[in-house]
Amino acid sequence: MAWWIEPALTVVSYVGFFAYATWSVFSGTYVFADPYVSPFFSTWIGFGTFKLPVIGLLVPFLAVIPLGLRVTCYYYRKEYYRAFFRDPTACARGEGVRGRYTGETRFPLVLWNLHRYALLLTIVVTVFLGVDVVRAFIYHGHFFVGLGSVVMLVNVILLSGYTFSCHSLRHLAGGGLDCYSCVKAGKARHRLADALNRLNPRHGWFAWVSMFSVGLTDIYVRLVMAGFHEPRWIA
Ligand code: FES
Repeated sequence: MAWWIEPALTVVSYVGFFAYATWSVFSGTYVFADPYVSPFFSTWIGFGTFKLPVIGLLVPFLAVIPLGLRVTCYYYRKEYYRAFFRDPTACARGEGVRGRYTGETRFPLVLWNLHRYALLLTIVVTVFLGVDVVRAFIYHGHFFVGLGSVVMLVNVILLSGYTFSCHSLRHLAGGGLDCYSCVKAGKARHRLADALNRLNPRHGWFAWVSMFSVGLTDIYVRLVMAGFHEPRWIA
């Protein structure tokens, strides 16, 4: 494969995803087709009589936090430093721009060190999206399965795979410890770090597929809103 194909695909995919996500979030349409909701939005928080209408608050919250995680993600950094800044574009290629290298020690790239906080907030967002998936299997009080329920479920599984295979999470869980038996809950932390270590090598794969699954889930909910008749089963 020619060296320029991967960076070219990266530029096209990232620009395309960013443009679509920005349009969707600010299109002025709440992307909801009972019982589905786009992952760029969120349905009401809570069940039963406890429902909190926080849609206006959650739209930027749900969209900006995961975006912050992706922008500061170690995997994405590798990809866009190569593709956008040609720093360098690929192995054995020259650097695109030569200058004094300060790494991530100066503004704005020093902000990339906030990655672990973006991760913790994204875990909260993932819980919200998980609640939306549970609600996608309930229609007017009945257990329900539609193609959209499955689409939303797969999307959250892929997003969770991306979030929980994060390098920072592995470190927070116990990867940074020198001695597990010297700390509280050392055994549990060792097991957790071990599980995350097994997930982590797939981080790049999850980064790509979850990016597409978010966009495709949003498109699917828009199709149902527009009248698409999907296969459904209601108990
Ligand atoms: S989300 Fe990619 S390294 Fe943390």
